[in-house]
Amino acid sequence: MTTAPTPPRSVTVRVPAKINLELRVGPRRADGYHDLATVFQAVSLYDEVSVARCDDWQVIPAGAYADQIPADESNLALRAARLMAARFHVDEALSVRIDKDIPVSGGLAGGSADAAATLVACDQLWGLGLDREDLVRLGAELGNDVPFPLMGGTAIGTGRGEQLAPALARGGVRWVLAISDIGLSTPAVYAECDRLRLDADADGSPQVPAPQVSAELMAALRAGDAKQLGAALTNDLEPAAFVLRPELRELRDAGVEFGALGGIVSGSGPTVAFLTDSHEAALDLSVSLAASDLCRDIRRAKGPVHGAHVVPGLRPD
Ligand code: C5P
Repeated sequence: MTTAPTPPRSVTVRVPAKINLELRVGPRRADGYHDLATVFQAVSLYDEVSVARCDDWQVIPAGAYADQIPADESNLALRAARLMAARFHVDEALSVRIDKDIPVSGGLAGGSADAAATLVACDQLWGLGLDREDLVRLGAELGNDVPFPLMGGTAIGTGRGEQLAPALARGGVRWVLAISDIGLSTPAVYAECDRLRLDADADGSPQVPAPQVSAELMAALRAGDAKQLGAALTNDLEPAAFVLRPELRELRDAGVEFGALGGIVSGSGPTVAFLTDSHEAALDLSVSLAASDLCRDIRRAKGPVHGAHVVPGLRPD
C-alpha cells in the first residue's frame, strides 16, 4: 500500500533582482501607461520568501530591509498568495515571510520579485502542479514586473514589460549597484519623460516611435562582449530621472570615470547599475564609489542568474 506524501509545512523560494539593460519607452497610451521594449537581466541579489500555513493571513518582514516592507494588505506578495488561494479554491490562510536583501523602491523590482516567489511557493505548498507559463500569466495579473523573476536569465519584455521572450546571451558580467537613498516615484519619472518629449518638440505633439530594443545591445549580448554591452546600455527614463534628481547624473558619471564599462539608471531608479567584466574590476569600482560618498550603499552582483526557485528545508521560524 502506498501512502500519500505528507504536504510540506512551509516552502521557501529564492528570487533574484532585475536590471533593465535597455528600457525603451513608447508614447503615453490612453490608459496612462506606456508601451515598453526592455531587456531584463536577473542578477545575484536575492530575496527569500517562505510561505507556511497559519490561522490568519500575515506578512513577516525580515532581513536587511525588513523595516521598509509593508506588512499590510498593500504588500504585493500577500496579494499574490491571496490570488492563488482564491483562484485555486484553497481555504487556508498563510503567513508570508519576506527575507529582504533586495533594496526597496530601487528600480530593481524587489516587490515584484517577492510576489513572483510567492506564486512559486504557493504552487509547491499546495501541490498545484502549475507550470511556468501558468505562473507567468498569474504574475501578469499582479504587475508588469512580476513575470520576469519567474523566468530569470536575460529576456526581452514588451507590452508593459510583462510579455517575455528569452534573449540569447553568452557569458556573464559583473554589476556594481550604487544604491541611493533619494526617493524617486515611478509615475513622476514617466510623467517627466513625457514632459521632456513635449518640450523637445516644436509643435507640441511629439512623434514618439513604437519602442524597440536595439540591434547593438542584442549583438553585444550574443557575442558576450562586455565592452560593447556597456556602450549599448540605454534607458529612455534616464534623462527624466536626471532632471528630477541631478545627483544621479553625477553618480553615473563618476562610476564611468572610475572605470565602469557603462552605467545606467535601473528602471525608474534611483539605483545606478555599473557594468564591469571581472571580479577585480567590480571590487576596484566599489572602493572608488564608496570613497566618493555619492551613494548610500554599494552591492556587487553577477548576471544573468536563474529565476525564482524553491530552496530545500523548512523556514527558520
Ligand atoms: O507598473 P506600475 O503600476 O508599478 O507603474 C506605476 C506607474 O508608472 C503607472 O501608474 C504609470 O504612471 C507608470 N508606468 C507607465 N508605463 C509603464 C509602466 C509604468 O506609464 N509601462
